[in-house]
Amino acid sequence: MSAMDRREFLWTTAAGASLLARPGGSGAGWPDESPAERDRRMAWWREARFGMFIHWGIYSTLGGVWKGEQVKLQPAEWTMQAKHVPDAEYSQIAANFNPVKFNAREWAALAKRAGMKYLVITSKHHDGFCLFDSKLTNYDIMDATPFQRDVIKELAEACAAEGIRFGVYYSQLDWHFAEKPVARATIPNFDRYLEYMKGQLEELLTGYGPFGSLFFDGDWMPQWNNVLGREIEAWCRRFQPHLVINDRLSKRPTSIQLAALLKLPYRVPVPPVGDYATPEQSIPGYLPPCDWESNMTMNTSWGYKSFDNNWKSTADLIRKLVDIASKGGNFLLNVGPTGEGVIPQPSVERLEAIGKWMQVNGEAIYGTGAGPLQNLKWGRSTQKAGNIYLHVFDWPAGELKIKGLKQNVRRAYLLADAKADLPVSQAGGATTIKLPEIAPDPISSAVVLEGR
Ligand code: GLC
Repeated sequence: MSAMDRREFLWTTAAGASLLARPGGSGAGWPDESPAERDRRMAWWREARFGMFIHWGIYSTLGGVWKGEQVKLQPAEWTMQAKHVPDAEYSQIAANFNPVKFNAREWAALAKRAGMKYLVITSKHHDGFCLFDSKLTNYDIMDATPFQRDVIKELAEACAAEGIRFGVYYSQLDWHFAEKPVARATIPNFDRYLEYMKGQLEELLTGYGPFGSLFFDGDWMPQWNNVLGREIEAWCRRFQPHLVINDRLSKRPTSIQLAALLKLPYRVPVPPVGDYATPEQSIPGYLPPCDWESNMTMNTSWGYKSFDNNWKSTADLIRKLVDIASKGGNFLLNVGPTGEGVIPQPSVERLEAIGKWMQVNGEAIYGTGAGPLQNLKWGRSTQKAGNIYLHVFDWPAGELKIKGLKQNVRRAYLLADAKADLPVSQAGGATTIKLPEIAPDPISSAVVLEGR
């Protein structure tokens, strides 16, 4: 059995998958890559910790409403499936996609202000419409819409200018070619479709500068499998070997797909294809055995819904970011711009607020690894370069007492007030830090413990 076959075999069982554990996210990456090479390739991504996801397409013009009826259960980008709209009818809405307010530089600048280090936008979602100029189809922004501007190109350039790593989402599932717009759709002439997909990936990877990451989606379609996933991975790496690729090129176990569907937490196994796991709308309650990234919406839908006001609070989002970092993961936080090209104001407000928080506390997030203390009642911990960061959600009166910290603490201070030492003592396995009466930040304040 070759190493790859063994990996694939183990993956099929939950117990086997845990044997594939790569502690600290290290270990052999895609075929023939040494752990050190993999670590080098993943370095920017692990450092980044926080990125922007953008779900945008012709469905954004509908705002989650089809012929006067709201799309309730599914997210907006699933309108075609939710309302059983045949492709011939659905594709007509491309003629209404004219996002005159789109400004790539503003979006990239907003991501930067939020403290995000990378961005991933839907180049093609399940509906099959392409936001980039593809020579292989007329169902794209240049040929099928009045807008006729390659928004992927504009965003790639804006991100380069702002110093944000750029990447795209690409759906293997494609209802433009499928028999019916259903979740488990079958695509006739699948070999021809695969050539189309490869051609489009080549267009993307050769025409838009260097990409940071690639986010595939749709592995639950019956025709997908790990062999194909590996073929597509190798294909993509011909053009950009350093890409960071998600796990949905694998055929993920049904348990994962089900958990994602039901929004349940699940045990994240090391994927046989791709670099990192993608818990969707959830944060693992433990330390996953591999690199991982939670992708999440700020309200309920990924794509824009005019009536979706179920916004998470800024406090909730910041604490989620901290929670994710404390377990060694990345946070890919979504925005769903309108059909006009506007990022909804509640999203902008939250991103600005997170950005302000990051200006003070970013040091305790970027480039950190999972904290030495887990399951804390009052907050979370992260660590980097000999420092431990205590992220305090619930500010205690007078002092913070921690048990089980093995490191000696040379100095303690607040990130919000780095000049002032906090009195710290260590005795009998407990570390006690005296705190000022009022938390510097009611959402989460970082206490730095410098190691000796
Ligand atoms: C899902 C959905 C999709 C969304 C994605 C984000 O798989 O099908 O609409 O793009 O997850 O993770």
